[in-house]
Amino acid sequence: MTVDASRPGPVLNSEMYGAFFEDLNHAADGGLYAELVQNRSFEFDPIDNEDYHSLTAWSLVTRGGGIASIHTAQENPLSPNNPTYVVLDVTTPGTGAGLMNHGFNTGIAVQEGERYHFTFYCRCDDNGSRPVQIRLESQTEDLFAEALITVESGDWVQYKAVLTSSGTDTAARLVLLTTGTGRLHMDMVSLFPEKTFNERPGGLRKDIARLIAELKPGFMRFPGGCLVHDGSLDPEARNSMYRWKNTIGDVASRPSRRNNWSYNQSMGLGYYEYFQFCEDIGAAPLPVLPAAYNPHHGLEEPLDQLGPWIDDALDLIEFANGTTDTVWGAKRAELGHPEPFGLQYIAIGNEEVRQGYFDRYPYFQNAIREKHPEIKVICSSGPQPQGEDYETGWNYSRQFQADLVDEHYYALPSWFLSNWHRYDDFDRSGPKVFVGEYASWGNKFYNALAEAAYMTGLERNADVVKLTCYAPMLANIDYVNWRPNLIWFNNHQAFGSVNYYVQQMFSLNKGDVVLHSELALNPPSNEHTATEESIRGRIGVGTFRTSVKYMDFTISDNLAGTTYFSDSFQNHSLLWKIREGDWIAAAGGYVQSSTDLADCRSTVSADVSNHYTISVKG
Ligand code: AHR
Repeated sequence: MTVDASRPGPVLNSEMYGAFFEDLNHAADGGLYAELVQNRSFEFDPIDNEDYHSLTAWSLVTRGGGIASIHTAQENPLSPNNPTYVVLDVTTPGTGAGLMNHGFNTGIAVQEGERYHFTFYCRCDDNGSRPVQIRLESQTEDLFAEALITVESGDWVQYKAVLTSSGTDTAARLVLLTTGTGRLHMDMVSLFPEKTFNERPGGLRKDIARLIAELKPGFMRFPGGCLVHDGSLDPEARNSMYRWKNTIGDVASRPSRRNNWSYNQSMGLGYYEYFQFCEDIGAAPLPVLPAAYNPHHGLEEPLDQLGPWIDDALDLIEFANGTTDTVWGAKRAELGHPEPFGLQYIAIGNEEVRQGYFDRYPYFQNAIREKHPEIKVICSSGPQPQGEDYETGWNYSRQFQADLVDEHYYALPSWFLSNWHRYDDFDRSGPKVFVGEYASWGNKFYNALAEAAYMTGLERNADVVKLTCYAPMLANIDYVNWRPNLIWFNNHQAFGSVNYYVQQMFSLNKGDVVLHSELALNPPSNEHTATEESIRGRIGVGTFRTSVKYMDFTISDNLAGTTYFSDSFQNHSLLWKIREGDWIAAAGGYVQSSTDLADCRSTVSADVSNHYTISVKG
């Protein structure tokens, strides 16, 4: 393949390869958000999940003859937004009576020598004084750490302790025990590792955040997905659509929310944290706001009552970018970030294609354009890559002159391979393309390879395809709503799929400009001519080296002969990493890397040699 540097094509958007965060698969609580206590505010409710109740993940503990009970109540709450708390009634303390939290997955993961920050709010109903022992224990009651707190107020007071674990365990418990009799009320029982991403107190899990950061995403789309619009129109309902104003400020006063993926969201990871994380990893923030329309349940705000929804969008822009003498800019400063976050994009709606959405979208776009012409507004084209709904979405987006159109597709690898030229003939004059969700159905080599092949087509059309992100990004292996996913984790480990390393390879090796290229095969073949046409189609065979900025090389090996790649590669899934400087060979859906080009010189059997695409990154 010869790359002709004198014939530059489209310039790539520096933010082209991004990330998509949605709190499904317990991506936030039990995932990126480093809180170790599950149901810390006792707000779990059957409305979130029919198996939930306010004491989910908690149990009563009585030791040495203790007699006690726990229940939840709502009188005189810590915050009206967080109305439920636990009541501990101790009749006979024995050697200790109280409650324990079971954490996520197998429990709470603790490591020897690491520090953990415990906080809770507590009050005694009789203004008395009570000792409360905070313990990290194994399931067999081996003690890893303890601290003693004395509660001595009838008002809600926050108490803190630092626990240093003497052991390593992936199934530890947080245990709160008192040796006093009477009643205690507790809420917001929280435990965070001291080591969070960028050492932020109450921050993000280091290993997961690092994997995201190592993608070097140009942008991050958040907070969803269907999670944004699947809810009620009432911002105060616990099953409301995702309203960003509910997600900032003191975590004890953030209303937790029914997440449409059948669980409860603490909202500890909220808009301020999203913006901060984007800044930390150098990603442009790309928030998605509901369009006052719920396509899942046909709910729509009357057109003459869209005001508060549009204000949410305008206020969000002010929250992100406004000077500190604006209402929302001042709020951002009060939360600790006087400098603006540099918001450039905003998406209104997710995957909607119904009339109810298109009736509402222009109100948002017009208001945003009028007040903030610098912000790029993103419209939706629905969940299908083609068809009538899709055409409708694009027609409306063109009519509205949206800046970008959010396309989503989840499809078989064959779809990705045969749609490699999807954007070649796209209208260049209308809105640009934002591929806001895509994945082939699987986390195997072949899926990743199909995605890689497809991405070369996205890149070749970088004049019209401006932003792209794989979806979904995160999944806790014990709470799976959706698969495949880019990054998998449990309560103490996180790893990237093979698809992750494809995304990373493209992101880290992104060039500035697409160069004209031609393929020459030896021996020459009618089927394998070095024309543009012959390199369209599916990925067949090629070698390329990662991290080479500009390439000019020719594949000159004799391709006839034995098959280099064995079938075993096909079933190999996950955790295969292309390293910087490797030579990569791809053949008929199989891929191999080596630090030595000679290892990668491949021969291809007849059945996989019908189409050739050289996938060049650099
Ligand atoms: O990425 C998972 C889901 O797929 C998203 O929530 C939704 O937008 C799409 O249907």
